[in-house]
Amino acid sequence: MANNSITVIDNRTGNKFDFPIVQPTIGPDVVDISSFYKNTGMFTFDRGFTSTASCRSNITYIDGGAGKLMYRGYDIGYLATKKTFLDATYLLLHKELPTKEQLDNFNLELKKRSFINESMKKLFDAFPDNAHPMAILSSAVAALSAFYSDSLDMDTPEEVIEMAHRIIAKIPTIAAFSYRYSKGLPVIYPDLDKGFTENFLYMLRAYPHGYVELKPIEVEALDTIFTLHADHEQNASTTAVRVVASTQAHPYAAVSSGVGALWGRAHGGANESVIRQLEMIGSVDNVDKFIAKAKDKNDPFRLMGFGHRVYKNFDPRATILKELRDKLTDELDIDSHLLEIANKIEKIALSDEYFVKRHLYPNIDFYSGLILNALRIPKEMFAVIFVMGRTPGWIAQWVELKEQKDMKIARPRQLYLGPLERTPKS
Ligand code: SDX
Repeated sequence: MANNSITVIDNRTGNKFDFPIVQPTIGPDVVDISSFYKNTGMFTFDRGFTSTASCRSNITYIDGGAGKLMYRGYDIGYLATKKTFLDATYLLLHKELPTKEQLDNFNLELKKRSFINESMKKLFDAFPDNAHPMAILSSAVAALSAFYSDSLDMDTPEEVIEMAHRIIAKIPTIAAFSYRYSKGLPVIYPDLDKGFTENFLYMLRAYPHGYVELKPIEVEALDTIFTLHADHEQNASTTAVRVVASTQAHPYAAVSSGVGALWGRAHGGANESVIRQLEMIGSVDNVDKFIAKAKDKNDPFRLMGFGHRVYKNFDPRATILKELRDKLTDELDIDSHLLEIANKIEKIALSDEYFVKRHLYPNIDFYSGLILNALRIPKEMFAVIFVMGRTPGWIAQWVELKEQKDMKIARPRQLYLGPLERTPKS
């Protein structure tokens, strides 16, 4: 029996099988079971991949027990309070924080690519006015590939970074355009004199003649939100991006699949659901009733913004956002009525045995919604904001997967519980 291994014994036969233990830089050891089926003739079963490491990665590390999150080794608290979203984006893509000159050049490369082909506006026209911006965004990202069909193979590092710049630069414009179309407003083109985050708020809010109400504190708050969302190891939407990337599909298809996966209310759609839930609860007097519904196993109602697959203590991003929300309460128009309801929910949930026993704490989405609300960003755009933040992470994960020469197409097996072969009656 090799020392750095684990032995599995089939108690039905007494057969023993050894599997190597692989040690990470930091975090739980990993048992490599790649040969499990070949050696044992059995599959492993792991509903929702709660105990499964799907890949090797150098990008993001989460310690769910300690409430720790690092991008390329830098703590999220440092990046969110001392650096900008473009710093974090550059770090995710290039593995190092940028110098001032590198950041200026990076910013310029994104500005140059912030416009979209005018004929993409026909795509926006095809949607009904009440189309959810995530429907438009997932379609538009995939549609981008049609304008770059000559460079979808990404065989050289130059082609990869060109793609990364394009997608990161164009998603804010597509997002802003989809919102303006949904409101029947004229689109506002990127203003290349404005910074990345300021430019997005400008495209969202400005009047055709250029007038816009924009406070620096609003730009700073949204930039922090983008940084906090930039990557999060192998979450559901990043897994979707990696699965699509493993089929050799191009990154526009992979990112579009990430948008679709993120839209779910159990994932990136939770921030919109939190606000809708607070509005539905409507009063602090109703909170107890909804807490009881959340605890009732027979009731599908769940407390949006609570719980996390990995964080079983606290979500460090939520801590940063809560501080930001409290700081902005005076400077921005945080909805005091919804805040009162949110505070009561949080107070009860943090002491109630049902939530404490299941390690259900407020996650990033519980706080981001109230801040986005105060930034006068419409609820239906909340998941789009999440996409804008997460796009650099998805692309960094896509690049990492492509760089791994032993990458295999994602093709899990199943626990089959269907019928045995049946003889057709006729
Ligand atoms: C994000 O993975 C990531 O990194 C995601 C993310 C990222 O940055 O990419 O962090 C972003 O998606 C944050 C999560 C946003 N979603 C929500 O806020 C939706 C509400 N939360 C739940 O849907 C749930 O907590 C999940 C999906 C977040 C986590 O689900 P898990 O890990 O599969 O946990 P589970 O469903 O197995 O729940 C464990 C127990 C169950 O009860 P028991 O069967 O043990 O009795 O906790 C209960 C659940 O019923 N539970 C909840 C609950 N969340 C879990 N009960 C009430 N309300 C909730 N919100």
